[in-house]
Order: sequence, then C-alpha cells, then structure tokens
Amino acid sequence: MSTPDVRSFTVGPVQENCYIVRADKVSSRALIVDPGDEPDRLLEAADALGVKIEAILLTHTHFDHIGAVAPIARATGAPVYCPKIERSVLADVMRWVPPGFGPFESYEADYTLAGGEQLELAGLPVEVLFTPGHSPGHLTYVIPGALLSGDVLFQGSVGRVDLPGGDWATLERSIGELIARFPPETVVYPGHMGITTLQRERATNPFLSELRARGPVAPVAAGPGGRAS
Ligand SMILES: [Fe+2]
Repeated sequence: MSTPDVRSFTVGPVQENCYIVRADKVSSRALIVDPGDEPDRLLEAADALGVKIEAILLTHTHFDHIGAVAPIARATGAPVYCPKIERSVLADVMRWVPPGFGPFESYEADYTLAGGEQLELAGLPVEVLFTPGHSPGHLTYVIPGALLSGDVLFQGSVGRVDLPGGDWATLERSIGELIARFPPETVVYPGHMGITTLQRERATNPFLSELRARGPVAPVAAGPGGRAS
C-alpha cells in the first residue's frame, strides 16, 4: 500500500493538531482526526484537497481536540468515532471546558472504540490501540507507516498527566508499548507540536529516560495492521 497522505492543521487557542488523512495523494476520500477548533477552516481545507470526509476519529475528548466535531459532523454527515469511556464527555462538552474557552457544541458519538478494533475507513486500514495515561480512554490510530497518537507522545515531550484520569505510570506503559511494537521509523503525528518518529523520541525524549534505561526493545514483527493489543 502506498504511503498515506497526511495533512496537518494547527487549530484553536491551544494550538492543537488536527489531521486530514487519505490513502494517497489522489484519493477523494478522507478521514479527519481530532477536529479541535476552526471548523470552517478545516472544511475549506477538505474542499481545497477535493476530498469528502467520511469519518471523524477522536483520540480523546479534551476540549481542544473536539471543539469542531459537531459542526464538521453536521456539514459532512460523517460518523464520529469516540473512545468508549469518554463518550459522556463528548456528549456534554461544556461541563469540562475551562473558563475562557468555547463555547463548543456537544455530540453523541456514532460509534465508540475501546482499542483492538481493525477498521477500514476512507479506503484506509485503521487499527485502534488503547493508549491511556493522558486521559482514561485515550486511543491511538495506526495507519500504514504512522501513528496518530493524540496527546501520548510529543516531539521532546509527553502528554500531561495532571488532568482527571491522567497517570504517568500508565502513560509511560502506553508509550513503551508503542515503541516496542512498531518499527523505529514509524512516523508519529501528535496532537500538539511537530511531527516526529518513534526512533527520535526513544533516543532523545527527556521524559523517556527510564524507558531507555530498561534497555533496547525489539520491534514486534507485526507492525501497522498487525495484531491488536
Ligand atoms: Fe489532551
């Protein structure tokens, strides 16, 4: 399979990364991951690419990742896939939004995911992994050669663990599983800041010093599209 075409859009006051993803550069079908804000800009970008948004995927339900879900779902008719144990957050968004942000519309998820699912969306194979620690239901989406990993792992940093349901030991385990399972060159499209690779973060990320100290971890052969965890 060819390398997916991934377009990055940094949106909203918290500078969240939303991604429009399609199987290749000529596909007219796409999915969108974490539309956090600026729905009109994202819809215009999809139009400019000539793609129809066929699915809306959420890594987790912090407000900066979901602020544009309702208007984009309404405009496109695309179903929304939400972490199962965070569905109630999406359904009552403003209850969880800190003062000074929003307003954002709530949305009842069309599908919920718990991790372990193998999906086929917009002509792309998408594997769903459960990667908690930053939020209790956090998911990572695996596409060929890359991870859309929300607020798990950043370039030189990691997701914060001081919000409700956050836990460092859990997040570290989630990151360790990604590093152990996928090839080092796997591209990481994070929810904030720049695009990176597992190899780069494993070698240089200051938050992963304990993971490094535990020694090399051989990638599991399965890779993207392989076994579910
Ligand atoms: Fe977050």
